[in-house]
Amino acid sequence: MSLLLDEIALAALRLAGAGVESPRPDAELIAASVHHVRRGELHTVRDCDFDARFWADIARRAAREPLQHITGSAHFRYLELDVGPGVFVPRPETEVMTGWAIDRLGKMDVAEPVVVDLGTGSGAIALAIAQEVPRARVHAVEADPLARQWAERNIARCADYAPHTAGRVVLDAGDFAGALPGFDGQVDLVISNPPYIPVGATVPPEVGEYDPAGALWGGGDGLDAIRVIEKVAARLLRPDGLVAVEHGAPQGAAVYWVFAEERGWADTRNHKDLAGRDRFVTARWPGR
Ligand SMILES: C[S@@+](CC[C@H](N)C(=O)[O-])C[C@H]1O[C@@H](n2cnc3c(N)ncnc32)[C@H](O)[C@@H]1O
Repeated sequence: MSLLLDEIALAALRLAGAGVESPRPDAELIAASVHHVRRGELHTVRDCDFDARFWADIARRAAREPLQHITGSAHFRYLELDVGPGVFVPRPETEVMTGWAIDRLGKMDVAEPVVVDLGTGSGAIALAIAQEVPRARVHAVEADPLARQWAERNIARCADYAPHTAGRVVLDAGDFAGALPGFDGQVDLVISNPPYIPVGATVPPEVGEYDPAGALWGGGDGLDAIRVIEKVAARLLRPDGLVAVEHGAPQGAAVYWVFAEERGWADTRNHKDLAGRDRFVTARWPGR
């Protein structure tokens, strides 16, 4: 076995002992980031290149700093996003909801669909839609100034490697409750991964100590922001426009009823994530 593989195996043991959920992949990804190669190219690293930074980064991960803060980037669908302190790290669960939106936008008979991403954080959802639906125009709304700096950086970076996204993602500062009044009744799709953790719930250190509080907590039952989003979506959507909202696994039934027929919604549906847990709700706005 090579020195590198020995060191990775040792590092994985240390991460497992610290309670890290995926110790071996995290150790490999840290090694790959230290040596500026992909995970599948680790065999190209020469043993003599092995250095102390690897162990310094493993120590940070063992202290439960998120992997993506250590490597400085997060993968989301076909994007590589810059992330770090002050912005929510995009999660794989959200890729499934974003994929649903991309599929539905592709089927819309609209020349340039208008999309609104409420609470854009790093810009993950907005940029994935702009990258994969080249005709779309996306408004990315974010209240937190630090998160907006990360989103601005990712919008600029994405325009470099996916030039068709340039000018198609517009960042809007402010609370999503009053977002985009000039677009009332004109939006084709509203999407959001809002804060939805009930206050007082226990979360892992990677989440509680590193994701911004404003990205996490959704009031006593976790649904405060989702109730606001229901009202904003009803205001913004054109007749037959669509909404998609992410939620916590136990909240599927409650969120279904937020988008109830009696509030004017149709075709409300629960959707699961890749682990088979309830993860997002979609609905159609037939118009008033
Ligand atoms: C769970 S994070 C999701 C970020 C990103 N959409 C993603 O999926 O990775 C929620 C985001 O919504 C923002 N946010 C929370 N409440 C907001 C509000 N009332 N108005 C605008 N943005 C808000 C937070 O700052 C945070 O960036």
